[in-house]
Amino acid sequence: MRIDVVTLFPAMVEDAVKVGVTGRAAERGLWALRCWNPRDFAADAYRTVDDRPYGGGPGMVMMAGPMSGALAAAREAQRRDGVARSRTIHLTPAGRPLGHTRVIEFARDRDTGLVLLAGRYEGIDERLVEREVDEEVAIGEFVVSGGELPALMLIDAIARQLPGALNDAQSAVEESFVAGLLDCPHYTRPESWGGAQVPDVLLSGHHEAIRRWRLEQSLRRTWQRRPDLLERRAMSKEERDMLARIRSDSPGTDSR
Ligand SMILES: C[S@@+](CC[C@H](N)C(=O)[O-])C[C@H]1O[C@@H](n2cnc3c(N)ncnc32)[C@H](O)[C@@H]1O
Repeated sequence: MRIDVVTLFPAMVEDAVKVGVTGRAAERGLWALRCWNPRDFAADAYRTVDDRPYGGGPGMVMMAGPMSGALAAAREAQRRDGVARSRTIHLTPAGRPLGHTRVIEFARDRDTGLVLLAGRYEGIDERLVEREVDEEVAIGEFVVSGGELPALMLIDAIARQLPGALNDAQSAVEESFVAGLLDCPHYTRPESWGGAQVPDVLLSGHHEAIRRWRLEQSLRRTWQRRPDLLERRAMSKEERDMLARIRSDSPGTDSR
């Protein structure tokens, strides 16, 4: 899969993806990155990419021209490299919040190259956004200083879903949100740490008991922390029975 990022700080993105799962996945040829700096497409000798906002107010706005030049170069490079089609994603707090379902859709549609626009300052001139962007994505209901970290989060979330990216494919199946639940707690050696013990069932070697314990923990956590997820989810009889038990275990607690 091909992903290009339009950013004023290419090194920030290029360096971050070299480590861990994203780095390994790139080495395995599962995805490739190119970054494009709007400064290289500026019209003046000062390589200006931002200007004051019309109407006044604080901060600066990224100019449409340099962004447009970088975006066109990214799309053209994807086309030359055999990418079937390009989709332009603007990372912005005003976008649709990113969730597991959308990440899976991106990861499945590997023939579509992504061009991620990372804003800075107050954001990007809206005319460029209206003309060129296919989709706007937010990584949460908060504001960070630039689109690079949001772009990296999107890239990482997609890369770990590409077949062959994780050493154990089961890891991606047993994570939070995959089955519409939060993940269960995890433990490793030593069995006793600071007086706290690993739950007995995990030491029992009894696979069915461990599966049931993990499911119950996931349901309990989801009920306590993200009851909205349970409302959206179809449940098996086993899960409904477990949830009824969890609710009756904790009278008076609807959720935390
Ligand atoms: C300081 S922010 C601009 C915030 C913008 N003025 C607003 O209030 O919506 C600079 C850039 O960071 C990125 N950004 C910040 N928070 C983000 C979020 N939650 N999701 C996606 N991108 C974000 C966007 O690319 C944005 O253009």
